[in-house]
Amino acid sequence: MTESNNERITTTTIITKTAKIDHPINELIARRWSARAFSTKPVEKSKLLSILEAARWAPSSRNEQPWRYIVFTNENPEKLKKAQSVLKDINEYAKRAPILICAIARKTYSDNKNYNRLHFHDLGAANENMFLEAFNQGLIMHEMGGFGSIQYT
Ligand SMILES: Cc1cc2nc3c(=O)[nH]c(=O)nc-3n(C[C@H](O)[C@H](O)[C@H](O)COP(=O)(O)O)c2cc1C
Repeated sequence: MTESNNERITTTTIITKTAKIDHPINELIARRWSARAFSTKPVEKSKLLSILEAARWAPSSRNEQPWRYIVFTNENPEKLKKAQSVLKDINEYAKRAPILICAIARKTYSDNKNYNRLHFHDLGAANENMFLEAFNQGLIMHEMGGFGSIQYT
C-alpha cells in the first residue's frame, strides 16, 4: 500500500490487472502492464538481482549479450536524483519510483568490432525478460523513452 492517505492504490490491485486475452497465454504475460503509480517503498536487493538475472538470460545475436544496465537507487540518492532530473515532464510520475534503470546496448560485436545491427533487438528481448520477472517478483516496471541527457563526471 502507498503511504499517502489520498492514494488508495495497493500494489496487489496494480499487479493483478489482467489483459482481456482472445487465446490462452502465460499469466505473467497477461498481467504485465505499464502502471504509472508507484510506491516509494525500497525494493529488496534480492528482487532487484533477480530481475537483472532474468535480463541476463535473454537470447541475443551471436550470444553477444549487448545489454548493460545502470541501476539508480536510494543507496546513492544523489545519483538517483540526477537520473530523475532527465525525465521528461510526461514521466514525472516515475520520480516516486525507488529504482530507475538505464538500459544501454553496445552497438558493436566485441570480437571483430563490426556493427551489430541487432543490438537494439537484443536489448528489447532482455528488457522484456526483466519486465516479466519483475511482475513475477510482485514489482511494477514501466518502460520510458521520454528522457533527456546529462553530463556525468
Ligand atoms: C520503448 C518504450 C518507450 C516508452 N516510453 C514511455 C514513456 O516515455 N512514458 C510513458 O509513460 N510510457 C512509455 N512507454 C509505455 C507505453 O506507453 C506502454 O507500454 C504502452 O502504452 C502499452 O501499454 P502496456 O505496457 O500497459 O501494455 C514506453 C514503452 C516502450 C516499449
